[in-house]
Amino acid sequence: MAKKNILIVPGDGIGQEVTAVGKLVLDKIAAKFGHEFTYDEALIGHVAIEATGNPLPDETLVKMKASDAVLFGAVGHPKYDNDPTAKVRPEQGLLKMRKELGLYANLRPIKLFDELLSASSIKPEILKGADILFFRELTGDIYFGEKGRKNNGDTAFDVAEYSRFEVERIGRKAFEAARTRRKKLCSVDKANVLETSRLWREVIQKLALEYPDVEIEYQFVDALAMMLIKNPARFDVVVTANLFGDILTDEASQIAGSMGMLASASIGDGTGVYEPIHGSAHDITGKGVANPLASILSAALLLDISFGMKAESELVINAVDQVLKEGYRTRDIADATTPADKILGTEAMGNEVLKFI
Ligand code: IPM
Ligand code: MG
Repeated sequence: MAKKNILIVPGDGIGQEVTAVGKLVLDKIAAKFGHEFTYDEALIGHVAIEATGNPLPDETLVKMKASDAVLFGAVGHPKYDNDPTAKVRPEQGLLKMRKELGLYANLRPIKLFDELLSASSIKPEILKGADILFFRELTGDIYFGEKGRKNNGDTAFDVAEYSRFEVERIGRKAFEAARTRRKKLCSVDKANVLETSRLWREVIQKLALEYPDVEIEYQFVDALAMMLIKNPARFDVVVTANLFGDILTDEASQIAGSMGMLASASIGDGTGVYEPIHGSAHDITGKGVANPLASILSAALLLDISFGMKAESELVINAVDQVLKEGYRTRDIADATTPADKILGTEAMGNEVLKFI
């Protein structure tokens, strides 16, 4: 029996709908295991800009730092996507949160539920056995370096920067994780071109000496992008820089069938943040059709990583598995063979998972 306070930060678009379901799952787990979870809510992203002018209000940051874990939705709004001149953007809230909370490690597990083999556009025989854990560095690289314009605004630049310290701490996390899995680590960079990547490789090579039990492999990012589709089952843990990780994990989401299935954990110095890897999806917002499973699986990661509640976490994952075995699907993971009465909306899908818990 544990007492924990959880901050729910739904953000924008379908973030609202899916975190509501994630919270119900946490509630159910608390009731079942006799834990006491208390909740608070805070604003981020477009909804925060509308309410306060700031994509990450101080109040939100204070609440985040004071909580035991954050269940996060998504940020973004289409009105900014085609407005490159916007000075304030929802994504700034997300990036500031990562920096301020020291969330340098972003874990993105790519695991294919057997029942969803046919939901992917990749052939089932290629996919079988794919189970990859990505470690994306989250507080450095071209995301956070100096950026600006010169030559009267006609030239733009974004500086990519990494320190030894930053590479080593994410590298260590990835090696440690590999030890608990199939003991293989693939470090991804562009060391044939980029100086930051050469430092990255140097640091990982040195670290590898401390982990002789982990089989290390180095790949260039372009080659890895190809191999992920060609032979996803050969990878175990993959560690990479912020921008490469952003791109590769969207690609890898197709191994799992849908972005709607993938959860992530952002961890570091303090409070951990758990969120789906999908975005705010304004095209389906308010329609009640968003897949809540990524938020539910994010809640499972939260229980495991921030609270050390392994049994609770596994129960949630098994419930998701059961629901899929029963044939229930949200629209994004349904296919031509799914009977109409098995295609569920956000709430109904959440209710099925609750039943199995
Ligand atoms: C992600 C997202 C963010 C990122 C955006 C919304 C800023 O794509 O978490 O992968 O690029 O990190
Ligand atoms: Mg992304």
